[in-house]
Amino acid sequence: MKLSAKCILSISLFVTLVLGISFTWIIKRQDYLLKEETGLIYYHFAPTDYFTTPLILINKLGEKREIDLDATEFFLQKKAVVTFEYLDRCLALNQIDKANDALKKLLEFTIALYCQGIVMVDLQLMSNFGFIDDLPARIDIEHIEFKKSWKTDHKEHLKSQVEYFREWILQNHAPLLESFDTVSKDLFLKT
Ligand SMILES: Nc1ncnc2c1ncn2[C@@H]1O[C@H](COP(=O)(O)OP(=O)(O)OP(=O)(O)O)[C@@H](O)[C@H]1O
Ligand SMILES: [Mg+2]
Repeated sequence: MKLSAKCILSISLFVTLVLGISFTWIIKRQDYLLKEETGLIYYHFAPTDYFTTPLILINKLGEKREIDLDATEFFLQKKAVVTFEYLDRCLALNQIDKANDALKKLLEFTIALYCQGIVMVDLQLMSNFGFIDDLPARIDIEHIEFKKSWKTDHKEHLKSQVEYFREWILQNHAPLLESFDTVSKDLFLKT
């Protein structure tokens, strides 16, 4: 084989390798969108010209606001039942086991996100999380970022945030506290 042919072959192998690695990296980056975990349906980050009509939002007081979707950055997420509302509903129906199970799932879900390096500075388990089809989801996605070091450096933060949540359960849903304490102790021992 001539030298120039070898050169072309190795250049094209190199290009294929780089493209392959970049493509895999992009696919992997897609995981960080946490589509399932946040109930994400659609996002719009850059200006476009394909939304033909503006979106009209009407609040509870009947006030209207017109949104130009092409010019606006937005996320579209599934509707969740926010944690405090979910627990209220369970307790109103005397579904204590369901409420306890929801708290267990919520803690497991949160710990799994922390262990993947997902930083949620303001955890607020009662209002920044909810349940979609009885499964936990993080609804506040504005305040999420990824930090590799967080996979191991999150423990103190997680502990203090869960302690804050525990206080809230004590104040608002005391019948769930005993099970919550057992579950959180068990989960913290495993992490
Ligand atoms: N996907 C959703 N399903 C149901 N309710 C939602 C959803 N997203 C937001 N909400 C409601 O809006 C509230 C505020 O949403 P979010 O936490 O994303 O915004 P925020 O600007 O961070 O507000 P805050 O400072 O109160 O946390 C939630 O606590 C919840 O009541
Ligand atoms: Mg929030």
